Amino acid sequence: MAGKGVKIGVDLGTVNTLVYINGQGVIYNEPSVIAFDRKTKKCIAVGKEAKDMVGKEHDHIDVIKPLEGGVISDLEATKAYLQYVFEKLEHINVKFKKSTLLICCPSEVTNIEKNAMGQLATQVGIRDVFIEEEIKAGAIGAGIDIFAPQGAMIIDIGGGTSDIGVLALGDLVVSESTRIAGNYLDNQITKYVKMKYNMAIGNKTAETIKIKLGTLKETLEEEKEYAFSGRNLKTGLPCKMTVKQSEIRDIFLRAFETITNTAKKVLQQSPPELAADIFNDGIIINGGGALIEGVQAYFENQLNLKIKIAENPLTAIVEGSKLLLKNRGNYLVKPADV
Ligand SMILES: Nc1ncnc2c1ncn2[C@@H]1O[C@H](COP(=O)(O)OP(=O)(O)OP(=O)(O)O)[C@@H](O)[C@H]1O
Ligand SMILES: [Mg+2]
Repeated sequence: MAGKGVKIGVDLGTVNTLVYINGQGVIYNEPSVIAFDRKTKKCIAVGKEAKDMVGKEHDHIDVIKPLEGGVISDLEATKAYLQYVFEKLEHINVKFKKSTLLICCPSEVTNIEKNAMGQLATQVGIRDVFIEEEIKAGAIGAGIDIFAPQGAMIIDIGGGTSDIGVLALGDLVVSESTRIAGNYLDNQITKYVKMKYNMAIGNKTAETIKIKLGTLKETLEEEKEYAFSGRNLKTGLPCKMTVKQSEIRDIFLRAFETITNTAKKVLQQSPPELAADIFNDGIIINGGGALIEGVQAYFENQLNLKIKIAENPLTAIVEGSKLLLKNRGNYLVKPADV
């Protein structure tokens, strides 16, 4: 692949960014976080290294998550982040001039932001660049033939948003988005711990509690517990506390009510023929939220439909970019060799 033009797929997620190169597979999979030196404005860490700094930074360091709630909250930081990713590609000898780049973004990213990302790619020398909604690429990555005259429904529970859509004939027919997703759950856990235990915890601790105890199961045969540390808000001193799984489940159930209602809204807006297809084929769950314990049975009960969990919910979008890259710009025609 050295020195050649290639096809590059980028999943620019609120929480994670992934890069795929044809012939090489997924070559980058790191958190969407960047750290700057406040004085020099120079980038000092990116990805996992920068995420490890979150909540631990001092006055001279600025740790930024450029995307928030499915939108670009800091365009300059997003550009710097992408710049870093592009530099990484240059290191593996990708010839930008001859390459095609697809950036898959959250559904709420505006056209202005999309243009800015396109311009950035042009600045590094990539002439052929296009932007797509991640839900479409995710559906392909999860194994759906989106080009068929057949309705398919996807619920992508990411970090910033849960995107729900019905696809047919190569494009989205109906879609809705809610900010009730991974980051929201982290924030709700932080709020709960503050209210119930009078304790302040950092983002990372909240996410760990979520991953260790998060569940949508109706009955918990053996209730798990998790011990975490933080700062006591009364004394101001460090302390340790234990939280039970049922407490976290209550937070999840409240949040998922909104996701269920959004899914119902999408179903209600779907044309009858597509509704019939969804009834027969069910719904696919994608994104990090697909890894939550009991998510399949939960939606089966709530929606009375078949639910499947994507095989690789965290990499499905970037995997799906492969096919969109083959058919640059024309999604109505299925590429011949797939
Ligand atoms: N086992 C798990 N249980 C619960 N949540 C998880 C698990 N593993 C990952 N997550 C959560 O999934 C989210 C990341 O998912 P994903 O990579 O799909 O998001 P993203 O694509 O970056 O975000 P978006 O699509 O909203 O822009 C994070 O909030 C993370 O904490
Ligand atoms: Mg995503």
